[in-house]
This record gives sequence, structure tokens and C-alpha cells, in this order.
Amino acid sequence: MQLADRVQHLKPSATLAISAKAQELKAAGHDILSLSVGEPDFPTPKHICDAAKNAIDAGFTRYTAVPGTPDLRAAAAGYFKQHYGVQAGPENIIIGNGGKQCLYNLFQAVLNPGDHVLIPAPYWVSYPPMVELAGAKPVIIPSTAEAGFKISVAALEAAHTPKTRMLVLNSPSNPTGACYTQKELEAIAAWAIAHNVLLAADEIYDQLVYDGKTPLSLAPMWEKNPEHVVVLNGTAKTFAMTGWRVGYALAHPDYIKAMTRLQGQSTSNVCSVAQKAAEAALRGGLAEVEVMKKAFERRRNLAMDIVNTWPDVLCPRPQGAFYIFPDMHHHFTKAMPDSTAMCAFLLDKAGIAAVPGAAFGNDNCLRFSYAVSDETLESALTKVGKTLFG
Ligand SMILES: Cc1ncc(COP(=O)(O)O)c(C=O)c1O
Repeated sequence: MQLADRVQHLKPSATLAISAKAQELKAAGHDILSLSVGEPDFPTPKHICDAAKNAIDAGFTRYTAVPGTPDLRAAAAGYFKQHYGVQAGPENIIIGNGGKQCLYNLFQAVLNPGDHVLIPAPYWVSYPPMVELAGAKPVIIPSTAEAGFKISVAALEAAHTPKTRMLVLNSPSNPTGACYTQKELEAIAAWAIAHNVLLAADEIYDQLVYDGKTPLSLAPMWEKNPEHVVVLNGTAKTFAMTGWRVGYALAHPDYIKAMTRLQGQSTSNVCSVAQKAAEAALRGGLAEVEVMKKAFERRRNLAMDIVNTWPDVLCPRPQGAFYIFPDMHHHFTKAMPDSTAMCAFLLDKAGIAAVPGAAFGNDNCLRFSYAVSDETLESALTKVGKTLFG
């Protein structure tokens, strides 16, 4: 059978693959604790589910406009006004099938073959393949645990060439939980604008920040520089809505129109019922989100208390999202030489599923998700410690 070159080179998502493998083992009767998941373990809040049920009962089951219903686009624009004081209208918003499709459409809409896209590592697994699918070249900028997994303007400057077209910045980060400060965000945005580089700010975890921190966004920078900044977000992580597949992008109307043309020839609108649910989420306040956030913060603390007892392991304290990303390379051996081998060993010997850092562009680390119950988290991380360090 002959397949297209673009598919031959396309790797399956490592995070989805590990979760599937853990589920398979579980189904076969093995005792598996999975810390590989990238989704909140809470149910979608009731008022959001009710909005979807009402939409079905009202017969809201037909095609909608490709970039989303006017009401949902207005609600997403309202989100940026409410939280970040930014004036935006429906014309600045596209609703996509998750933040994932918004990112995909953005890359397809702005990148040409040969363009370079700066991607700080550790990065979310899908950025490099999506950039490649657009014919462009991912240029990875490494960071270290010692530097809190953040990159500097100097590193951007060093990676910049005349081919640099775009920078993807994810804060809070999956997989590290690192959050850039307001000052750092502004410095990076100022650098991008000065170099005519489009800054794609993936803010899908914006509300999930801890230690009393206020959510931060590049939306205010977008308002001042709409041709140089695009903000991506979605309902999945904030509102425990991963399966509903509703994401959104805030961008200059010309980018929105280009992304809409792509979406119109590929998937069309996001499920009409899910759009109604997302509207209820975005308009319904953050009371439930606060409850989930408190649980994530408690689990972050619990995870860090355990990981801090591990010898020769460096793990910057995550300030957001729901992952820890400890650097375990001091425990690699000849038989277990990298993060993939260590994850295979943990799954085999301890029944713990984690994701190899290699999938995120850092082969020294492992990603553990703390979007699981306190009991599962404590028991799984204690087992990891016992298995690796005795
Ligand atoms: C950093 C980051 N961006 C984007 C996404 C996409 O989210 P969704 O497509 O579920 O909205 C994810 C999901 O794991 C993520 O971790």
C-alpha cells in the first residue's frame, strides 16, 4: 500500500500512545496506575452539561457557521475582556475542534515551506509535527531544569535567522508546569514584534496557576500588536471538557478569515451542541474551576513532597498546569539509558505509566500528571521511588 510521505514521517502522539498502552494492560487484568493522562479527572460541571442537554432538546443540532456561532465567538471574546481587560469582537475569534485544531489551522494558514518556527523545549508533543505538516521547520530551543525550563530572549536571538517566521510559547507549560512572569512575557513579545516574528501564545492552562498567582496572558500584547500575536486557548483543561473538543483563537481578522477558509474545507464547524456547552462554560464564571484548581494545587504539593525525597533528581516546582517533569538522568544505566527505557521499566516493574521526556524534547526527564486522585498520586509516586531508588 502506498501512503503519502507526510504520513510516513508522522509519529503517533506519545502521550496518547502511553495512555492507550496503560489502558490495554489494565483491561488485561494488570494492576496499573496511570500518571500519563493529560486531562482533568473531574466531570464537566453540571451547568455546562445542562446547556448541552438543552441544546439537544431545542433542536440545536444543525451546521453552524464555520468559525463558530456568533454567540460563542462573542463569549470567547468576552473571556479575554473579563480576565485580561482586552477589547475583542467575534471577528477576532475562531472556534476550533479543540485548541489543537486552532493551532493546526494557524500553522497551515501562516507557514510556507522553508519557514522556521522557534519552539522552546520541553514542548507540547504536537508542535513539531504540526509545523512539519505545514512544510515548515521546527527549530528547537532547549532549556534546562536548572533554568526552570524557561528560555531567554538571548536564546531566541541566537536561534533567529531571516527564515524565522514564528515562535510558539506555552505558558503555563505542558510538560513542565513552568510559567513565565509578566515581565518575561512582555520581553519575549517585544522581541518577536521587533523581529517581525509571529508569536503564537498557547494559553490552554491559563487559569490553572497556583500559589495565589493571577492568570497571565499575552492578549493585551495582541491588542496592541494584532498582526504579531495570536492567543490560543480552549475549554478542555480549565472546564474539564477534554472530550467536547472546543478551543478558540484570538487573532487579527485576516488570520481568522484564513483559518476559517481552511476549516471550511476540512472539518467545518465544531459540534453545535458542544458549542452551546462551551458558551455556558465561558459565560458561567469560575466557581467550579476554583474547586478543581485547589485540588490540583494540593496534588502538586503532594507530588513535590515525594519527588523532593528522590536522590539526585532535579524537579523545578511547577507553578501551573498539572504535570511534574523531574530530571532523572542521574539514574539512567546501561540497561536503562534514556527516558523511554525508564518509562518502560516503570510500567513493567511497578505498573506505573508515565510519559518519556523524549516525547517533549528532553530525554533526561519523565512527565507525571497529577490530574489523578490524591490516593493514586501518592501510591504511584511512592512506588516509583521504591522501584528506582529502593
Ligand atoms: C499545551 C497544550 N496545548 C494544546 C492542547 C490541546 O488541547 P485541546 O485540543 O484538547 O483543546 C493541549 C492538550 O493536551 C496542551 O497540553
